[in-house]
Amino acid sequence: MDEKSAKKRKILVTSALPYANGSIHIGHLVEYIQTDIWVRFQKLRGNECRYMCADDTHGTPIMISANRQGITPEELVGRMHAEHSRDFSDFLVEFDNYYTTNSEENRYFAELIYNRLKDRGHIDVREIEQAWCPHDKMFLPDRMIRGTCPRCQAADQYGDSCEVCSATYNPTDLKDARCSLCGTAPLTKSSQHYFFKLGDFAGRLQEWLAEGPVQEEMRNKLGEWFASGLQDWDISRDAPYFGFRIPGTEDKYFYVWLDAPIGYMASTRNWCERNGRSFDEFWLDPGSEIVHFIGKDIVYFHTLFWPAMLMGADFRPPNRVYVHGFLTVNGQKMSKSRGTFLSARQYLQHLDPEYLRYYYACKLTARVEDIDLNLSDFVARVNADLGNQFANLGSRVIAFLHKKLDGRLGKLTGDGLALVESLEKAADEIAELYEGREYSRAMKRITALAHDANQYVANAAPWSAVKDNPEEARNILTAAVNAFALLNVFLTPVMPRMSQRVEKLLGRTALSWDSVHERLEDRPILPFESVFTKAADEAVEALLQSGMQTAAPAGPAAPATPEEPPVVVPPQSEEIPFDQFAKVDLRVAKIVEAKGVDGADKLVELLIDLGQLGRRTIFAGIKKTHKPEDLVGRQIIVVANLAPRKMKFGTSHGMLLAASSEGTGVYLAGLETGARPGQRIS
Ligand code: 2FM
Ligand code: ZN
Repeated sequence: MDEKSAKKRKILVTSALPYANGSIHIGHLVEYIQTDIWVRFQKLRGNECRYMCADDTHGTPIMISANRQGITPEELVGRMHAEHSRDFSDFLVEFDNYYTTNSEENRYFAELIYNRLKDRGHIDVREIEQAWCPHDKMFLPDRMIRGTCPRCQAADQYGDSCEVCSATYNPTDLKDARCSLCGTAPLTKSSQHYFFKLGDFAGRLQEWLAEGPVQEEMRNKLGEWFASGLQDWDISRDAPYFGFRIPGTEDKYFYVWLDAPIGYMASTRNWCERNGRSFDEFWLDPGSEIVHFIGKDIVYFHTLFWPAMLMGADFRPPNRVYVHGFLTVNGQKMSKSRGTFLSARQYLQHLDPEYLRYYYACKLTARVEDIDLNLSDFVARVNADLGNQFANLGSRVIAFLHKKLDGRLGKLTGDGLALVESLEKAADEIAELYEGREYSRAMKRITALAHDANQYVANAAPWSAVKDNPEEARNILTAAVNAFALLNVFLTPVMPRMSQRVEKLLGRTALSWDSVHERLEDRPILPFESVFTKAADEAVEALLQSGMQTAAPAGPAAPATPEEPPVVVPPQSEEIPFDQFAKVDLRVAKIVEAKGVDGADKLVELLIDLGQLGRRTIFAGIKKTHKPEDLVGRQIIVVANLAPRKMKFGTSHGMLLAASSEGTGVYLAGLETGARPGQRIS
């Protein structure tokens, strides 16, 4: 089929909706950059491709986070929407719509889907028992319960799984369970819950999977899930909960994971309404495609619950669910103490977003493997490929053409024509690599072609030819400029901003993949202007420094575990209501044992006595100013109800109070004599 008559595809593309209670970090960006490159490629090919996303706004963590900040969840969600939108746009991630799950469109579709499932008998209602905090007057999600693992007895484990022995269990099995907000032992209380009967869809899901919507590696994983049986899924939560109330109930809410993927539809509906388009074209018409990009941690939701919900409610399931791995930095999990837990904004303060887009492209494949951002390789790679190979080709030949030959292109002939033809031929292959998400191979191919073009110029030596045969020199430069233009088309999905600069130089505007068939001959081009600035090692250094100095972004999406507890610095002026202050359990503690932590310059491990609350271990970043042996016997003030923090060297069960600032040392908060360990400070 020739390209002109090829049918243009209609594709709806999504990336996972980021939680609204944390900042976007460079780990998240792997997915948004991967998706954006694919979407830009599809648009460049002339397909109608619409990229929908939104903030994932509901759930307990967002409610609690807003509460702590003394604002409403709606306010919090509004602020985060503005922050996320700006971060994405600055990384040139171009959504057709960036919406929110806390919207009327989303409520509409959540109710519609739920009602259809219910009418067809796919919803079950039963009583279940759950942990309930009598102090906070709420049911506690598993992650908000801490206690001793019933299997290996490790202290301070989550309510659903043990990080020491990897056991999974019910929160009711946990020993000495405590509410992670207030430390109170939870009670067990029963309440009615709503369940989606996933098992009803086992057959249809298998049929769907046979159509090949997921990568091979994922099919095997799904096979295991089917083999172990599809369980009913609890889709309700009790009040208080930030979310949508379930129709027909007084105090039951949809679990955040029910309405999150429905947010893909809500975002589409909102866009359609603003653009005079029909929602059904995308979500019902079998001639269009639905493609989800997600991380490997949320596969169950997107390949079982979500397609089953769609099937049960008369929508069609996605055509593709593309799964990617996680990001490591310098071969390790992102970490604050190494300065590698970096938010999108921190990165932008030091480096050009297109460097990261290019580097991720160099690493991304169609497989579900993790990708590594190696920071020294990062600078070298970006500068070598984009600077030395690509930009350098353009600048040398265009500058020369202007200096000696009036900035006018000649003809494509001989070896020059052969070079250009070889690039034109590579276009289909590169397009296939983009289509198949093999960006790493695409970038290698493009760089190799840039190398060929530079080699051609070096061999043809237009600067010698110009003396005796200026027209031959002009033709050599013409071939090089055409090669540069072709390479620019190939790089456009990854480097949209740089690509625009190049197009301007070449006197073109509306770029399409078909420009690969357009030869530039017998015409003037503009004088060269820089299209690329090299990355500096110092900027990466400064970025890492900034990473060391700031706290890790909050939120459940943040994968890194802080390794050193911060020394408490009271906030400068932000007011908090009294009831928030009252939740902080400050206690007198006596240091019983103290030892420096090997391998950490600042950390001291303390065993503290809290009187009736017992003894526990905390870590404090005070080694530079305090000798461990001088600390034994001292009385300090600690936050006793801080959720335990797992660090590289152990778990810290509280935090001590100290005055500290850069350069002036650390001063432990003191007490007059007579205070007793365990005494509450109020
Ligand atoms: O894991 C997460 O970060 C979720 N907020 C992703 C939701 S994707 C979709 F289902 F909404
Ligand atoms: Zn509580």
